[in-house]
Amino acid sequence: MNIFIPKETTASETRVAASPDTVKRLIAHGCNVSIEKGAGELSNITDDAFKQAGASISDAKSAGSADVVLKVLRPSPAEAKKYKKGAIVLASMDPYGNEKDVEAMAKAGLSAFAMEFMPRITRAQSMDVLSSQANLAGYQAVVEGAANYARALPMMMTAAGTVAAAKCFVMGAGVAGLQAIATARRLGAVVTATDVRPAAKEQVESLGAKFIAVEDDEFKQAETSGGYAKEMSDEYKAKQAELVASHIAKQDIVITTALIPGRPAPKLITKDMVKSMQPGSVLVDLAVERGGNVEGAKAGEIVKVGDVSIVGHLNMPGRIAASASLLYAKNLLAFLETMIDKESGSISLDLEDELVSATLLTHDGKVVHPNFTDAKSEGGTS
Ligand code: NAI
Repeated sequence: MNIFIPKETTASETRVAASPDTVKRLIAHGCNVSIEKGAGELSNITDDAFKQAGASISDAKSAGSADVVLKVLRPSPAEAKKYKKGAIVLASMDPYGNEKDVEAMAKAGLSAFAMEFMPRITRAQSMDVLSSQANLAGYQAVVEGAANYARALPMMMTAAGTVAAAKCFVMGAGVAGLQAIATARRLGAVVTATDVRPAAKEQVESLGAKFIAVEDDEFKQAETSGGYAKEMSDEYKAKQAELVASHIAKQDIVITTALIPGRPAPKLITKDMVKSMQPGSVLVDLAVERGGNVEGAKAGEIVKVGDVSIVGHLNMPGRIAASASLLYAKNLLAFLETMIDKESGSISLDLEDELVSATLLTHDGKVVHPNFTDAKSEGGTS
């Protein structure tokens, strides 16, 4: 079985979908692994390191003979066309709003899997790209916040005087938020955090941060059975905004990570709240790719509002690419291994497997994922 790992074609993408470790494991399963020249360069993985792991180094044309293509981002229609009909493609597909590209993968006859649809069940924990990447994004958000902050984070009592500890507020205590809390604590900041899910309270407190939230009846019901947040009522949002407004004026670094699946990111911080912050303060908006939690945040930019900075970096995990690639590659390997026959080394798809049915976007020339099978895609691609 031939596996190909291309160099990502999106300019801002620094990650790669394989590591020397995952290459070795695939070769042990009897696969041939071919890596496009320079694919790991921006993740500090050299072609030599891949070669030593047993891979061959090739050019983009090798995609045409691959049974499996491992990618970070969805292939463009032009790329998809060059892949072999029937090839399996694992990537973060970001399919919503990109239905034309999904159709193009169907038309190319690919079995395309959206890794971000992996169910959050125990068996699939090692395949959860959202968690592996959000965890690093949470860490990196604090690093970026500290780099843009005019002062030190820890309290320092020196002969020349005392530097007060920075106050850091984390909004949204999911995977990214909890790592941001832990990182800010390690750097010596005094950390507070908020969320709309009651389960987050204990997790925040167990990391040594103070939990701040409007804990009314709606809050007690805010978690879906899948563990995600619900969209809150206007009444709740108003109470939350009041609480945040009084808290935020005293904060030095604010990290926002609040997301609701399938909805734009909730706006949690208004322009007036930003203006109420001290000069030199920083907001890092990790939700910027989904519309942002902070009013005035711009995707891919650091915006200055007076002396306050709003950091809106895109692809935060890509800013720590060497670590992000190692974990992402492991997630893909763990999923691919469920499809590899241990005896023959060949690959087979079990369409009944819940991991497959939850993530398979296109198969046999059709868009097959229930979230995308509308009248247009049913019965073939147009
Ligand atoms: P996410 O990325 O969808 O959202 C981030 C956070 O924002 C969530 O904690 C959410 O409650 C919060 N949020 C949404 N609206 C908000 C608002 N208006 N104000 C403040 N906060 C708001 O969430 P993520 O990180 O994917 O985690 C969701 C849940 O899934 C968590 O309970 C997490 O522990 C759980 N999880 C379970 C896994 C497993 O069982 N394998 C793996 C990873 C996460």
